[in-house]
Amino acid sequence: MAFTDQIEPIKAAALQSLQAAESLKNLEDVRIEYFGTNGKFTALLKQMGSLSKEEKPSAGKAINLVKSELTQTLNQRREELEAAADSPKLATDFTSPGRRRPLGKKHPFTKVTEDIVKSFRKIGFAVADGPEIESEYYCFDSLNTPADHPARDTQDTFYINTKNRPLLRTHTSSVQIRVMEKTPPPVRIIVPGRVYRRDTADATHNPTFHQIEGLYVDKNVTVSDLKGTVEFVFKELLGKEVKLRFRPHYFSYTEPSLEIDFSSPLVRKMGKEWLEIAGCGMVHPTVFENVGYDPEKWSGWAFGFGIERIAMIRYGINDIRLFYENDKRFLEQF
Ligand code: DAH
Repeated sequence: MAFTDQIEPIKAAALQSLQAAESLKNLEDVRIEYFGTNGKFTALLKQMGSLSKEEKPSAGKAINLVKSELTQTLNQRREELEAAADSPKLATDFTSPGRRRPLGKKHPFTKVTEDIVKSFRKIGFAVADGPEIESEYYCFDSLNTPADHPARDTQDTFYINTKNRPLLRTHTSSVQIRVMEKTPPPVRIIVPGRVYRRDTADATHNPTFHQIEGLYVDKNVTVSDLKGTVEFVFKELLGKEVKLRFRPHYFSYTEPSLEIDFSSPLVRKMGKEWLEIAGCGMVHPTVFENVGYDPEKWSGWAFGFGIERIAMIRYGINDIRLFYENDKRFLEQF
């Protein structure tokens, strides 16, 4: 058979096999069958050497044309098969079980915060917010905290620079002032937020942590309003068996000032009878004066809870650092 007559049948067979290939593996087999070292097309190319001078040019032309056509078909089929491999096949058995997507979970702090906010909303409190980078005025001066108070020490507070002394707020109490400056009384707010202190991280401390501040200002507000409110919220949050104890304390922005201890079966499980959980008190008259409220006319209470403490009690966690590590195995349990 003349050389050029052999080209056409090989081409036709190759084209058919390429187009019929149903998998990438299949396609590769066809490629080897024709273009491999011992392939049918390779054999044709090898014959070129034995052709006469007159035959060579037209045979070369014909064979190059076929080669490019086959290569093009091969590449096109490969792309089609690759695309099909990437896209999911439609399930044909609709009774087979679905594939579950892994669901994210809320962080325990988010849950605790949301639950506290929910309880306070029920009794008419609104959520307020303030900046984490704060001035000395809002964090300390306006709260009646004198310049020589240890809380203002650079050992305790992160100052951003020493010039006009912006700082990372050490508590959410700064937001009390910001809200009262802008709002005439009565006021009923809670403020969840992140705060910062120069503490070394250990099982119960972290340099950033979370608080919820509360502030209630109206006429004839008393300490028993404060006690009743706090008790209501903690019973909602941690169960009816909860007991609270109020101890005298000192904060410059409240008078009298109290600390709240907390007891429950969960606390006892952690090996303690009482756990300190919040500071609170009746708003100091000087604080009212600083925001332009008349202390003769208005009275109020305020508190600051630590979210970490509450989350530790609620979920029985004994090392605060676990909350910050973002280990999925830890977080997935809540
Ligand atoms: N700011 C206090 C702290 O970080 C907590 C606190 C105490 C907040 C008394 C208050 C308050 O609003 O009245 O420890």
